[in-house]
Amino acid sequence: MANRAEHCGGDTNSEPSLRPLTPNVGVEISGIDLARLYGDELVFIMNALNTHGALLFRNQRLSDENLVAFSRNFGDLDGAPVNENGKTAVPGLPELYVISNIEGSDGKPVGSLGSGEAAWHTDMSYLENPPDASVLYALEVPAVGGDTWVASMYAALDHMPANLRKRIEGRAIKHDGTYNSGGYVRQGLVANDDPLTSTGALHSAICAHPRTGRPVLYLGRRRNAYVEGLSLEESDALLDEMWAHATRPEFCYAHKWRVGDLLMWDNRATLHRRDEFDATERRLMHRTQIRGESAPRAL
Ligand code: SIN
Repeated sequence: MANRAEHCGGDTNSEPSLRPLTPNVGVEISGIDLARLYGDELVFIMNALNTHGALLFRNQRLSDENLVAFSRNFGDLDGAPVNENGKTAVPGLPELYVISNIEGSDGKPVGSLGSGEAAWHTDMSYLENPPDASVLYALEVPAVGGDTWVASMYAALDHMPANLRKRIEGRAIKHDGTYNSGGYVRQGLVANDDPLTSTGALHSAICAHPRTGRPVLYLGRRRNAYVEGLSLEESDALLDEMWAHATRPEFCYAHKWRVGDLLMWDNRATLHRRDEFDATERRLMHRTQIRGESAPRAL
């Protein structure tokens, strides 16, 4: 940790401060240079993540190594998944996933997800032990579009109609691992649109958050999801009702990116999605994921 007086980048002219972005999710933190944390800033950040679910830091100047080092403060990092173009991470930094529509010299995008919409999801919920948090840093952004939305699953559960909550209590959802949020088949898998046979993990619909212990709705992604023990028709109807409720505008924050923004979200307490953008524009984001230490626990 650096001494505060030694800070040279980021927004550090004042003490760390918080500005809520919406009533239910997201807070902007000012006054911290993420390249050089000092004192109890890490505790400040962790507490804010536990309370607000998503954190925005503006005007950061992070090298790839800075981004990995900042993320490692919160735990071990997952390796970047292989994307739909067969590419993995930034060379030399296996934890750094590239999300981009920019084409490399081989004519293929250097990163994942293209320029289309990325549907609502929480990262890698098809694993038994999904990542704890994700960190997304903006290097190039389009003038319009490509906004990233975050929704609080604490708020969604807290405000869930009693009759819907009763129907999901004690139920487990199968989280499909076939497709990523851009709709691409993951490397090494074949397309499979049958939720009963597709690959994935089962998680309780209502979990105790591993860090906060607070009850949280855990949906993963809609495509190929299945509520265990129901017929497919009953499962689809219940999932549609849950998803319509969970993504109500009052539970969401929509982030318009600027270069140097870093958005960090609690991957067990939020969903996120991305708007499409003009394919002729460039968007380049680097992402890390902090490894989850325990599987979602049923409530
Ligand atoms: C993601 O789903 O992790 C990507 C979000 C984005 O590109 O804004």
